[in-house]
Amino acid sequence: MIPGARLVLFGRQGAGKGTQCVRLSRHYVVPHISTGDILRSAVREGTPLGQKAAEYMRAGDLLPDDIIVGIIDERLERDDTRTRGFVLDGFPRTVRQAEALLKVTSPRGIDLCINLDVPREIVLRRLAGRRVCTDCGTNYSLEEPPKYNATCDVCGGDVVLRDDDTEEAINRRLDLYELETAPLIALFEEWGLLAEVDGTGSLDDVTDRLVQEIDRRREL
Ligand code: AP5
Repeated sequence: MIPGARLVLFGRQGAGKGTQCVRLSRHYVVPHISTGDILRSAVREGTPLGQKAAEYMRAGDLLPDDIIVGIIDERLERDDTRTRGFVLDGFPRTVRQAEALLKVTSPRGIDLCINLDVPREIVLRRLAGRRVCTDCGTNYSLEEPPKYNATCDVCGGDVVLRDDDTEEAINRRLDLYELETAPLIALFEEWGLLAEVDGTGSLDDVTDRLVQEIDRRREL
């Protein structure tokens, strides 16, 4: 195990960021911080943040940068991330968020920002087949469903289609990716933090590629 890894996984919606971040967080024993999960939990609990987030999320729009940066700032303040590192899933997603992340994590900064590369036609297929546990957020797909109907293998919660996995919201999220998030590839390269990993193929193959790339970079 490499202690204290500080990682960012980004890429198109449906590239497998959430699924692979869960695996990386277990492998490196670091907290998995997903802005999407934090927001979905706020929506479920009906907090003021959740009430505001619900509309953006359903439409596939990005929440304003200051709200998201505030959430991450607060989360990275906790002791677990300071001592054990983290894997960020779904943040940063805009140039402003990336610049804020560097500030928040200064002086040590981030070890590696990995672009999990999956073409648009493949992510569209994956998202159409995705099913998610409403309680713990575990991902399933039509090819790999839960063992018992729509009941989560991990916690027994209901496994459903996500509210924002409608055709309209998926297309909106993918368009916003090209506009707001794709420019991060050049930015992270300029900062010397970029790694590109092929996100196609089986889940285990993708995890192996990610671990190889992270270990290789951290040994340099
Ligand atoms: P978020 O929850 O982050 O959703 P997303 O960006 O749309 O990403 P997804 O969860 O759709 O994709 P993923 O890459 O995690 O894929 P997954 O692992 O599920 O954000 C939701 C919303 O919150 C945003 O739209 C926005 O409104 C708001 N938000 C969040 N962060 C924000 C930010 N920073 N700024 C502003 N707003 C923000 O995999 C997809 C499916 O494919 C699953 O079914 C999985 O089982 C399957 N799969 C994965 N890998 C493979 C494989 N190798 N082979 C076959 N199937 C696979």
